[in-house]
Amino acid sequence: MESSDFTRPGAGEFDQVAEYYDHLMKTVPYRHWVDYVESLLRRWEARPVDVLDLACGTGRVGSEMVRRGYQVRGADLAEPMVRECIRQEPPLPAMVCDASRIGIADTRLDLVVSLYDSLNYILVPEKLAAAVREAHRILRSGGLFIFDLNTERALASGLFTQDNMRSDDPLQYTWEAHWDPKSRICRVDMLYYWNGDGGPKHFRETHYQRAYDNSEVLSMLRMAGFTRFESYSAYTFRAVTPLSDRAYYVAVKE
Ligand SMILES: C[S@@+](CC[C@H](N)C(=O)[O-])C[C@H]1O[C@@H](n2cnc3c(N)ncnc32)[C@H](O)[C@@H]1O
Repeated sequence: MESSDFTRPGAGEFDQVAEYYDHLMKTVPYRHWVDYVESLLRRWEARPVDVLDLACGTGRVGSEMVRRGYQVRGADLAEPMVRECIRQEPPLPAMVCDASRIGIADTRLDLVVSLYDSLNYILVPEKLAAAVREAHRILRSGGLFIFDLNTERALASGLFTQDNMRSDDPLQYTWEAHWDPKSRICRVDMLYYWNGDGGPKHFRETHYQRAYDNSEVLSMLRMAGFTRFESYSAYTFRAVTPLSDRAYYVAVKE
């Protein structure tokens, strides 16, 4: 076993992969995702300036928003991921904290954004509800909370079982997903082989994501005090359906 403690779900997630994360995500269309977020902002007639990229990871979303003129800071649970934020171009100032206890006293943010199924990593519904309350707390009146979640369809359908072992990429990986319908948690066993600078090196991580029903999430938003909210099948303005792989949520603090 490497340095991570796999006996506790969530422990060690993103610790070792952090320095390879941007390489691993090199084909992820972050710019298009931010385009979509901006289309949601237009639809909701919002013009945010002060933004928190919640569960920012290495800061790809926040950094893209900085490039577009927003004032963005990041927050993430995994310290190794936050450390990578400084390497973004432009760099993203970020802090280490849990989404359910955001270390920001300021309550005047215009937008909290959390992308790439980051909030699925919260495995306990009460903790996700606490994270939603925290987003509500730090927003100004009229501020928006925009986030995405993998749906149960995505997590139960083996989407995370994949590999690139036949490629000549210096970072090869093999992931195996295990869905537990009772807990609604998908465990993904990940093996990585790095053969680039400083290599060779191999390591493993185990990631856990929980599925939340659309109605469950909307109820959390209502309970947190959001009065206007909507969910969309990702990258559209259409409603979430049983066939949606990813849902986007937009909520306004009145
Ligand atoms: C799949 S990555 C996405 C990172 C980033 N949002 C992106 O778009 O690349 C999920 C991130 O969620 C973070 N995370 C997981 N649980 C968290 C929690 N309870 N509070 C804050 N961040 C969390 C992880 O550390 C990781 O950086």
